[in-house]
Amino acid sequence: MHPFSKAQFLRAAGRPGDLLPPGPPEIAFAGRSNVGKSSAINALAGRRSLARTSKTPGRTQTINFYDLGEEARLADLPGYGYAKVSQSLRAQWAELVGVYLKDRPTLAAVVVVMDARHPLTPLDRQLLAWLESFQVLALLSKADKLTRVEQAATLKKVGSELSGEVRLFSSTTKQGVEECRDLLEGWLRDAR
Ligand code: GTP
Ligand code: MG
Repeated sequence: MHPFSKAQFLRAAGRPGDLLPPGPPEIAFAGRSNVGKSSAINALAGRRSLARTSKTPGRTQTINFYDLGEEARLADLPGYGYAKVSQSLRAQWAELVGVYLKDRPTLAAVVVVMDARHPLTPLDRQLLAWLESFQVLALLSKADKLTRVEQAATLKKVGSELSGEVRLFSSTTKQGVEECRDLLEGWLRDAR
C-alpha cells in the first residue's frame, strides 16, 4: 500500500495562526488558480473527492493539510493569479502562503503545478525563483488537453528552462500519476 492511499484531511488554515505545527515531512502543492492542484492530490491519493475541486478558479482559499499516515503530510495551497479576487483577499492569501513557505522546517518538497498548455507564466517564474533552495517537482497538468507531439515539445521546453524535476500529468487520464507518486515518496523517505 502506498502512503498516498492513506491520505486523510487534517485541517484547513485560513490565517497564519491556524497553520498546523510542523510535524512529519510535508509536500506542498502550489500554482496558479485552477491549474489542478487539488485534482492532482486526489489523483495521487487515488480518491475522487478528498480535496475539493471546482471549475471556478479560487476554490481553495485555505491551506488544507492532509496526512499520509503518521509519516508524511500534504499541503494544498490556494492558487495565485486569479484576477477576479479582491485586493484584500489576495493580500490575505499572499500573507498566508508567504508565512507558510518561509517558515516550514519540515517542507520536504514543493510541487509547482502549471497548466501544460501555458506553463511558466510570470507568476510561476517568480515562485520557482523563490523556491530555488527547495526540492521542486514541476507538474505540467491537464496534459490530456495536448497531443502527444505537443506534450513532448512542452516537456522539452520546460525541462530546458528548469533545473529540477519536470513531469507531464493528467488527473483525468492518470498520466504521470504513478511516476510522480514514486518520486514524491522517495523524497519523503529521504526527508525522514
Ligand atoms: P484552486 O483551488 O482554485 O487554486 O484550483 P486548483 O488548482 O486546485 O484546481 P482544481 O483541482 O480545483 O481543478 C480546476 C479545474 O480543472 C476543475 O474543473 C478540474 O476538473 C479541472 N482539471 C484538473 N485537473 C485536470 C486534468 O488533468 N485534466 C483536465 N482535462 N481537467 C483537469
Ligand atoms: Mg484547489
